[in-house]
Amino acid sequence: MTSTANQAQSAQQQGPQESRVFAPPAAFAEQAAVSGMAAYDALCAEAAADYEGFWARLARENLAWQKPFTSVLNEADAPFYKWFEDGHLNVSYNCLDRNLQNGNADKTAIIFEADDGTSTPVSYRQLHEKVCKFANGLKSRGIKKGDRVIIYMSMSVEGVAAMQACARIGATHSVVFGGFSAKSLQERIIDAGAVAVITGDEQLRGGKQLPLKAIVDEALALGGCESVKDVIVYKRTGGNIAMVAGRDMWLSDLVDQQSAECEPEWVSAEHPLFILYTSGSTGTPKGVQHSSGGYLLWAALTMKWSFDIKPNDVFWCTADIGWVTGHSYIAYGPLAVGATQVVFEGIPTYPNAGRFWDTIAKHKVSIFYTAPTAIRSLIKASDVDPKVHPNNFDLSTLRLLGTVGEPINPEAWMWYYNNVGREKCPIVDTFWQTETGGHMITPLPGATPMVPGSCTLPLPGIMAAIVDEAGHDVPNGQGGILVVKRPWPSMIRTIWGNPERFKSGYFPEELGGKMYLAGDGAIRNKETGYFTITGRIDDVLNVSGHRMGTMEIESALVANPLVAEAAVVGKPDDTTGESICAFVVLKQARPTGEDAKRLALELRNWVGKEIGPIAKPKEIRFGDNLPKTRSGKIMRRLLRVLAKGETITQDVSTLENPAILEQLKEAS
Ligand code: WTA
Repeated sequence: MTSTANQAQSAQQQGPQESRVFAPPAAFAEQAAVSGMAAYDALCAEAAADYEGFWARLARENLAWQKPFTSVLNEADAPFYKWFEDGHLNVSYNCLDRNLQNGNADKTAIIFEADDGTSTPVSYRQLHEKVCKFANGLKSRGIKKGDRVIIYMSMSVEGVAAMQACARIGATHSVVFGGFSAKSLQERIIDAGAVAVITGDEQLRGGKQLPLKAIVDEALALGGCESVKDVIVYKRTGGNIAMVAGRDMWLSDLVDQQSAECEPEWVSAEHPLFILYTSGSTGTPKGVQHSSGGYLLWAALTMKWSFDIKPNDVFWCTADIGWVTGHSYIAYGPLAVGATQVVFEGIPTYPNAGRFWDTIAKHKVSIFYTAPTAIRSLIKASDVDPKVHPNNFDLSTLRLLGTVGEPINPEAWMWYYNNVGREKCPIVDTFWQTETGGHMITPLPGATPMVPGSCTLPLPGIMAAIVDEAGHDVPNGQGGILVVKRPWPSMIRTIWGNPERFKSGYFPEELGGKMYLAGDGAIRNKETGYFTITGRIDDVLNVSGHRMGTMEIESALVANPLVAEAAVVGKPDDTTGESICAFVVLKQARPTGEDAKRLALELRNWVGKEIGPIAKPKEIRFGDNLPKTRSGKIMRRLLRVLAKGETITQDVSTLENPAILEQLKEAS
């Protein structure tokens, strides 16, 4: 936590200056699930008065239990908390069968909006049938409760069905984003010990056919993946791919003849529903393990609280199922509450940057949830081409907007509020993480007065606080470390295969071992107590809302035979929030001019191949060396200043080689 002090200090200096306040529109507040601050306060008071009773009530009201729980929270083995552990349920039963029983059978569950603009509605009955056949297909291959299954697919009904099918039979899925490289995929297959990989032949994005199956083949050929017995391939494009006899099969061949009924596997609420890999500050990506009961409770409840979901809403979350947002707010949350949702295959800029607005109009979307990066890039696009400005589209069905994944700057918030929401839609700026399973700090759209750039207040039952490095509360107006003081149902259970890393990383002894450390800095407004997230306090970057560890990128760079040393830092970026800037020392002499350009391109592509295109540094600067202390420690703090193009004002007298700073000032 070395950078914490700096972080806290800069938060203090910057303090949120925003003074604009937007009350929830009266018409919205009137009909909202949580209407007015008194209702919010009452829920918070209920949680404070009887924490377990509060969660038990919500778990009974929101989920269907095959065997009711008697134990609510078990803290005996803290921080390995257990929720509702003696209760039994099935996540897929809660998402699908429940809807067949309560009159939603013919309701549209998913409107699939394909890359090319064709759309297909899928009812709850049809989705149930698809999932049951899929689940029976997996069972026919011997896949069973507790097995791990990797899902490497693009946005599709089949992708959601694959997740639900695993849940139905009690297999633990691990979805790997389709943009990750063969090497990243291989690492995840090995770490999870997966028995099967479900993939597609190719994916379609922005009119382009991109490989999936070929990357799976490459990953498996890298070795160490002997646990994988089956590769199941969904035919999306019909592109030319290789099939390995005895290992690979088409999804349709596996499922077409299966029964449309599949008795769900009832599991303990603590049964691992999924593992999702995410970046930390050190080492390899960590497999964040989530539960079944507590996780689904929060996915369902936040659909009601944060998104105020109603039977007639059309919900659209633009995330990918490869990220946690796509888990909680595509694959599970919307289905658990019987909502209709759009599942989008394409990209925001194809066939043009009006695609989001056009799709909202086409499907009469009422709740829209996207990332600040997408908003910022669409602002830019509509400045260039006024035809794609939201004003040209019928967005009258929208009633609520949301953002996720990174801080939203107040100006982008205002643009979203005025031009997309037309000043009548509340915006929920939802702060949360892969580890938290669902929203943590967010306005409630019918209650909380909104301030652009602030995620406002914790949800009822979420005991978020800001502390100093010794774990003591800091007063409002003073920046510090964001923590959660009590366990909550959808929290991470452990890091797959690495409980020690879970314990030391998220419940550090320095903070007393009982507080969840989010990894972000934050500050609360002096008057309102509103939270503003000031950014990560560790070496994790957030590029376009994608989390990446600087160490991972550095390791990828030094794996290149040309590279002697590399240091990676984040640099503020108008569109992507942060961008990746790499300082590299080659084994050969420092390149300049055209040579430097060529080598930078080569290294960028190398990182793309090692991790995936999202990890490619935007900028690479070459030096004869890196700024180091006399004990040989790289001074990343100085590199961050150089990356921003700012002048170094800090004392550099402890540097071994101060002259190097001059060389690294500018892009090579
Ligand atoms: C950042 C994404 C500010 C934060 C759901 C966090 C945010 C990391 C917000 C988690 C927000 C997410 N405002 N920052 N509304 N939402 N973050 O695991 O730094 O991909 O720790 O989960 O994104 O990213 P992850």
